Order: sequence, then structure tokens, then C-alpha cells
Amino acid sequence: MRAALYDRHGPAGEVLRVVDLDRPEPGPGEVRVKITYSGVNPTDWKARGGTTPRPMDGFQIPHHDGAGVIDAVGEGVDPGRIGQRAWVYLAAAGRPFGTAAEWTVVPASQAVPLPDGVPTELGSSLGIPAMTAHRCLFADGTVERKTILVAGGAGAVGHFAIELAKFFGARVVTTVSNEEKAELARSAGADLVVNYRDPSAAEQISSFGRVDRVIEVALDANLQLDLAVVRPGGVIVTYAADGNDPVLPVRACMSANLVLRFVLVYGVPSEALQQAAKDITAALASGALTELPVHKFSLEDIAAAHDAVEHGVVGKALVVPD
Ligand SMILES: NC(=O)c1ccc[n+]([C@@H]2O[C@H](COP(=O)([O-])OP(=O)(O)OC[C@H]3O[C@@H](n4cnc5c(N)ncnc54)[C@H](OP(=O)(O)O)[C@@H]3O)[C@@H](O)[C@H]2O)c1
Repeated sequence: MRAALYDRHGPAGEVLRVVDLDRPEPGPGEVRVKITYSGVNPTDWKARGGTTPRPMDGFQIPHHDGAGVIDAVGEGVDPGRIGQRAWVYLAAAGRPFGTAAEWTVVPASQAVPLPDGVPTELGSSLGIPAMTAHRCLFADGTVERKTILVAGGAGAVGHFAIELAKFFGARVVTTVSNEEKAELARSAGADLVVNYRDPSAAEQISSFGRVDRVIEVALDANLQLDLAVVRPGGVIVTYAADGNDPVLPVRACMSANLVLRFVLVYGVPSEALQQAAKDITAALASGALTELPVHKFSLEDIAAAHDAVEHGVVGKALVVPD
């Protein structure tokens, strides 16, 4: 099969190459998926570049996310799954066969049936962003009738955080930096969209009501804003570490009886991942999840796809393996 891989860390254009490899066979409990689209996330360029290297056994076919059709199953897996459309999550977590290839092999539970009518592009965009958004939203219980602040609502995680929160009955306010992103956040269903650069951002959010939970992409940049709008006993959930580490205002956090939570999708308990897959499937089946603007790259152009994500492309970069 055709596959992109790297065997050392470095810039995309230097270390990613397209090769022919033996097509992987599913082992016991696994399925093989013929990949239609492979979704690129920031974690993929960070792992490849060595910023946050992940264990590598000789070589790494990158990308955790993808979608396609199951075409073989291993021992113990229902053969009825052959021919099923599926979206894949965490394909490259501790495994060499990511989704940037014509085929990948994953444990059967990590290839989730894609409901009829859901575009394959959307399926390939779900894994890392939607699973992370789900964990951030639900680690502290239901969101029904809660007020959720999603920082960065036009980002991949932020987008699904808005859509999942709305689907499960929350009121959602979100922040963005410009009108293009505001439009994306409104399309996702946010009840209120605020430009976080506006000096009155805190008042605008507060006018919507006290925030029960913040889904935070930039804790250092936004901590003062979050503290200004979160209710006593509220929760701030952080899932990104791109900026500086914050200086924690302990008295303000203590006075608010604040809960600070951190989420890294690689360490989310498997029961929580299974529940997330069920909830995401229910939301997909109801048409509650949509895709951000899609940017497609051929397998040969995978380095350009990584660079686009690294430089903050608005929307999802997908690699087309054949
Ligand atoms: N912990 C985990 O398991 C996990 C899972 C997925 C992703 N991540 C990490 O989360 C980050 C985002 O991932 P992604 O895929 O969602 O990336 P993305 O699609 O590029 O979205 C990031 C969004 O954050 C916004 N943003 C940046 N600074 C902001 C600020 N100060 N306030 C509000 N919004 C801000 C950006 O828009 P503007 O710059 O225009 O504001 C952009 O819309 C990455 O660092 C990624 O590695 C972690």
C-alpha cells in the first residue's frame, strides 16, 4: 500500500516521505479500514517535529483520525462489520499504522460506525477534536441547562465543543478573534459569539449569565477573563499548552472555589472514550455535528498539510491517500 511515514523527527518537508509498504493485516480484535480521508491535527505535526514526540517503533505513519470502509476483520470481530463505513480515532497512539496510508488497522472499538448520510469528510475530522471536546465537556457531569464558555469556538476542538454542548442541552457562549471565525461559531450553533480582543468581552459574556464551565484553549491568555465570568464553584477545563504557563492567582481561584481540570486525550479512560463515541454517534445521527471548511491534500502533499495545520489554517486539513 501507499503510505506516508517518518523515521526521525524534523520539519515536515524533510522527514515525511511516501513509500510502498505491505498492507497491514488485522490481528485478533482488530479491523482494517480502507482510508478515504486522513484528518490532520496539531498533535500530528508536534509529534512529527519532535515538540511532543510520541513513542516510535522504527517508523511512524502519522495521523490518528480518518474515515473509510472496513474491509477485513481479525479473529473475534463480527465479519458483518466488513463493508461498514467507519471513523477512526487514536490510530497512531502507540501503534505505527496511523491513517496517512491507504489502509490502517485499529482495535475494533476504535473504528466507530458512521451513520448513513454523514459525509466521510466529517467522519475523518472527529477523532482527536470531538473526543477531546466531549471529555472537556463531560468530565464534570452533564451539561444540560449549564452555561458553557468555549474559548476559540472556530477551532477544531472548539467547534465540536459548541455542537456537542448544544446537542446535550447547554447554553453556549464562545470567543473568537475575527468575523470569519465568528460566522463559523454562529453556524455551529453558539448562542452568543464574542471577540476576545474586545475590551468589553467580560461584560458581554457576563450579560449572558454566569458561566458554569469553561472549555479553554489558552489558559494563560484567558485566565483573567475566565475568572471574571465563571460562577463560584465553576470549572475551567484546559486542553492546550501552546502559550506560556499561567501564573496562578491562588486567592482569586480559591475565593471562587474554582475547579481547574486538564485534559489530554491520550490518557482519557477507555470507558470515557467509549461513552464519547456513543454520544458523538447520537449527535451525528441527529445531524447535530457539521464539518468546518475542508482543505484536501494528496498523500504526496502531506508535508503541506502538516504545515497548514502548524500555521493555523482555518478549518480541517484532510489527506487523501489515493
Ligand atoms: N489535550 C488534548 O488532548 C488535545 C486535543 C486536541 C487538541 N489539543 C491542542 O489544542 C490546541 C487547539 O487544537 P485544535 O485542533 O482545536 O486547533 P485549531 O483548529 O487550530 O484551533 C485553535 C483555535 O484557538 C483559537 N485561539 C488561539 N488563541 C486564543 C485565545 N487566546 N483565546 C481564544 N481562542 C484562541 C484560534 O483562533 P484565533 O487564533 O483566531 O483566536 C483557533 O481558532 C492545539 O494546541 C492542540 O495541540 C489538545
